[in-house]
Amino acid sequence: MNILITGGSRGIGRELVLLFAANTNNKVVVFSRNQEKMKELEQECLEKFNNLIVSEYIDFLTNNLEDEIEKALKKINTSFNVVINNAGQLINGPFLQTEVKDIEESFKVNFTAPYLINKNIAAKYAATNCHIVNIGSMGGVQGSVKFPGLSVYSASKAALANLTECLAEELKETGIKVNCLALGSAQTEMLHEAFPGYESPVSAKDMAQFIYQFSLTCNKLFNGKIIPVAITTP
Ligand SMILES: NC(=O)c1ccc[n+]([C@@H]2O[C@H](COP(=O)([O-])OP(=O)(O)OC[C@H]3O[C@@H](n4cnc5c(N)ncnc54)[C@H](OP(=O)(O)O)[C@@H]3O)[C@@H](O)[C@H]2O)c1
Repeated sequence: MNILITGGSRGIGRELVLLFAANTNNKVVVFSRNQEKMKELEQECLEKFNNLIVSEYIDFLTNNLEDEIEKALKKINTSFNVVINNAGQLINGPFLQTEVKDIEESFKVNFTAPYLINKNIAAKYAATNCHIVNIGSMGGVQGSVKFPGLSVYSASKAALANLTECLAEELKETGIKVNCLALGSAQTEMLHEAFPGYESPVSAKDMAQFIYQFSLTCNKLFNGKIIPVAITTP
């Protein structure tokens, strides 16, 4: 299988890369900004699994985001069975101190980048029955418990959840399935930054294990669904 994972250098994305790379039949492509960490991960996958993962370096905050995504996918020129839009940026700050830059950056990483990746995948790089999994957040789910400081982040994840529903409808004749996993907490650097001192009972590995299984099997059962994956609040 061919798998595309964004934000693979750390946290849940890194654990996902390790899970997929453990099967040598999988070609794992990772979009990341962090060359140093990706070189280490490439080496780890080679030594542990004899699987050479492919890293493409894109900062989703670049001015040429659409071109960069197109260029990277064209270079790889592969049809993907699974696409996991995992990269995310969290801004935690009081609403009254929010700047336009915060809104633009959050939406660019959490919404525009997956939007453009999904557009390119649907146009040219989707294998039969391709499963696109957008990684959302409980904060982006209507009616969920909300937390002060997370207005921009949660709104951008809500946009991603809504996009999931729209794409599932618009792409339904293509065989591509699009779902959104609205994550509760998992112990990563991001969680630590958002909720210092809070310890999640869910490890990044546990969360990745669920996303891994879901992405491989649940396109037969779900399309256009926003699925909460949370054992606690947050
Ligand atoms: N951890 C939680 O409790 C939790 C809860 C709800 C939702 N989530 C969601 O789950 C996903 C993974 O989160 P995590 O906790 O593993 O976070 P993390 O450790 O902070 O990892 C986030 C990844 O996003 C990528 N990223 C951030 N800004 C980027 C940019 N400008 N361009 C390209 N990539 C960028 C980073 O990739 P590189 O460094 O490789 O470039 C990083 O690997 C995110 O979408 C997050 O919103 C997490």
